[in-house]
Amino acid sequence: MTKWSPNSWRGKPISQVPAYPDQDAVAATEKQLASYPPLVFAGEARKLKKQLATVAEGQAFLLQGGDCAESFAEHGADNIRDFFRVFLQMAVVLTYAGAQPVVKVGRIAGQFAKPRSSDSETKDGITLPSYRGDIINGIEFDEASRTPDPARQRMAYRQSAATLNLLRAFAQGGYASLDNVHQWMLGFVSDSPQAERYQELASHITETINFMKAIGITSEGHASLRETDFYTSHEALLLGYEEALTRVDSTSGDWYATSGHMIWIGDRTRQPEQAHVEYCRGIKNPLGLKCGPSMTPDGLIRLIDILNPDNEAGRLTLIARFGHEKVAEHLPQLVRAVQKEGRKVVWSCDPMHGNTITAAGYKTRPFDRILSEVETFFDVHRAEGSHPGGIHIEMTGKNVTECTGGARAIRDDELQDRYHTHCDPRLNADQALELSFLLSGLLKKAHANQPEKKAVNG
Ligand code: PEP
Ligand code: CO
Repeated sequence: MTKWSPNSWRGKPISQVPAYPDQDAVAATEKQLASYPPLVFAGEARKLKKQLATVAEGQAFLLQGGDCAESFAEHGADNIRDFFRVFLQMAVVLTYAGAQPVVKVGRIAGQFAKPRSSDSETKDGITLPSYRGDIINGIEFDEASRTPDPARQRMAYRQSAATLNLLRAFAQGGYASLDNVHQWMLGFVSDSPQAERYQELASHITETINFMKAIGITSEGHASLRETDFYTSHEALLLGYEEALTRVDSTSGDWYATSGHMIWIGDRTRQPEQAHVEYCRGIKNPLGLKCGPSMTPDGLIRLIDILNPDNEAGRLTLIARFGHEKVAEHLPQLVRAVQKEGRKVVWSCDPMHGNTITAAGYKTRPFDRILSEVETFFDVHRAEGSHPGGIHIEMTGKNVTECTGGARAIRDDELQDRYHTHCDPRLNADQALELSFLLSGLLKKAHANQPEKKAVNG
């Protein structure tokens, strides 16, 4: 393999590149970004990798989620807080059910660039470049807004820094304390069927905490009750931006992407000979790799050879996104290939991207298909004896109407009510919580299977 450097991707074929009209302006922006401080630190990425290694070993569960695409328009503190509290609620539900740590990774503070199936979009006879995420161009359908503008990269960097700053405060500054487990409930969710289940679980936790307080274990004295580790992630799509934020870690001499703790390679840009794989192979962060229906067992092993040659647990998370009807056909052969070759990976389920349909003129995802893909994912891992390690979802803390179904069933004709996403449809807070309760049942079942296996083996 040829020598890697932060810019060696530039010598490879590349897909999903925006047509910037002024290349000098792009180069100037990248130079400026390269002079800015890193957003995350190598030591944090290493800590996440260690936690993901415990997931790969079957001792923890990965919860990864957030917007499909963050936007400059929705950058309020409320937005970040509401996402964070639903995310914490989900994590608590999953920790309780699985009796295992939950590794928390947001699709946030950098999730701005979107791959598109078509380079252009035509409306009423006018053809313009497709929207590629706020870091590249604007969503409004006019020429000025759709023209890629490198200045947006600085804006995305600054928004990521501000978002991360607030998230760090929430995670470490007391908001995430288990003393607040009842307060994370959002107002509009509080009369939903999920709310009752959640408050019941929260009461169990509070009882336990009160008992622990009585014997002298308090949140003041124990950081794990008061704080949580929360990490950021995004798709490493816009490689000029990623390169500018790629820095050497002074303690190890290794290169890290400092745009986020974990980055992933999308299903459209995972060609082994191309630029996105080239960039990712050289940085030491934990990586995600989306696996859609076109991924073959041999193709997967080849990518694992490139991305995780040392077979380091925690380095690589395989994010399966097949669709509810295809997962049973595609996933088992990939799991078998990985097991046969003895590769250490985290298996995560993205039940969103293979289940997108159009209804009433909107891109949507029926909740029952999302659940069905998750259930089949767990079934496959049970049958293959592998660990269903995590979930990767598009979600928001807002009361949106983007995915149909759920306990408070959203109908096709209601999608128009509060459809706000800049790209793919997200689970709203209700649906996200409902999914976490379904997962909690599956985790309990998976857990119940484990001792049996141990007994058989030993
Ligand atoms: C995404 O995660 O938003 C995405 C585009 O996914 P995929 O690469 O799996 O299609
Ligand atoms: Co998406």
